[in-house]
Amino acid sequence: MTTEEQIRQALEGILVPGVMRSLPKMNLVRKIAISNQNVNISLASTALGSDAQQFVKGKVSEVIKKLPEVNEVAVDFVEAKPEEVNDIHYVVAVMSGKGGVGKSLVAALLGVELARQGNEVGILDADITGPSVPKMFGLSGVRPSGSESGILPVLSRSGIEIMSINLMLPHEDDAVIWRGPLMSKAIMQFWEEVLWGKLDYIIVDLPPGTGDAPLTVMQVVPLSGVVIVFSPQELAAMVVRKAIKMTQKMNVPILGGVENMSYLILPDSGKKLEIFGQSKAEEMTEASGRPLLAQIPIDPQLARLCDEGNIERYNSDILKTFIDNFLQAL
Ligand SMILES: Nc1ncnc2c1ncn2[C@@H]1O[C@H](COP(=O)(O)OP(=O)(O)OP(=O)(O)O)[C@@H](O)[C@H]1O
Ligand SMILES: [Mg+2]
Repeated sequence: MTTEEQIRQALEGILVPGVMRSLPKMNLVRKIAISNQNVNISLASTALGSDAQQFVKGKVSEVIKKLPEVNEVAVDFVEAKPEEVNDIHYVVAVMSGKGGVGKSLVAALLGVELARQGNEVGILDADITGPSVPKMFGLSGVRPSGSESGILPVLSRSGIEIMSINLMLPHEDDAVIWRGPLMSKAIMQFWEEVLWGKLDYIIVDLPPGTGDAPLTVMQVVPLSGVVIVFSPQELAAMVVRKAIKMTQKMNVPILGGVENMSYLILPDSGKKLEIFGQSKAEEMTEASGRPLLAQIPIDPQLARLCDEGNIERYNSDILKTFIDNFLQAL
């Protein structure tokens, strides 16, 4: 007789239209009951319009009927909010004191390497006025689908779920000119109304500073921790102290820091050039009492891959060490 486990396995082969992750991965399988060779399956209808529901229902019946000793298959849908369905292990935010130090890059790389190591990963772009995650992943012209009951994230080429205001705008160059409360509302929607499904990690890319958006994220999202990005240019200690104050107030641990644009390796001599001055890593670790997770050099290849939307192609030992340190700090 077919077991529940076999049914779940068969359901792994059915992709949710619009996001192309399986029913179990989107955590839409609510109940499986087997009696006298009859199988009843309850699915959450979250973020599925009626066409998508019909499609999924047909596929499920077709696939489950093929299993040994299955007679009848009944599929029904139950309503559930995305929040009730989402099952996310760790949520980590990437923050910094100032703009342009490479937060989005660090958030993207963190997501890319975690996914490469076999984790299920999502990236929530909480930068509403300067969203840059979709561009790094080459997702222009792609739009999230969904229904009244929820929004489906967009899937990157390597299978990372991505949600960003840029995916919603009529043109990706449109400017979002919103005040704090509206931005906070958009961030809340990305957390509460997006069907993320089952994920090991969500990485949140924050806008610079300690303003409304980081505050909203810390209030609304149950963060496992924060990664602070800084460059040798910055008054690192001051930036880190500000971040520490904010995270302490909000009761969120700092996992560690990443120094970006730390140095440049000269291609001819292999010499290490500290373009923006001496490393501020020691200052950062002293001020926060937390470890340095990575020092990322200025790398023309990185800049090119970001511009081309090919960030998922980046691979390096520095990135592997970063993830090792990150996992240890978590
Ligand atoms: N280590 C690096 N090597 C080469 N280019 C880099 C590096 N870090 C960042 N860049 C480039 O610098 C630009 C800014 O990086 P990024 O968007 O990640 O910064 P940010 O801190 O998120 O900025 P914002 O404050 O606007 O959100 C990007 O176009 C990226 O390609
Ligand atoms: Mg950014």
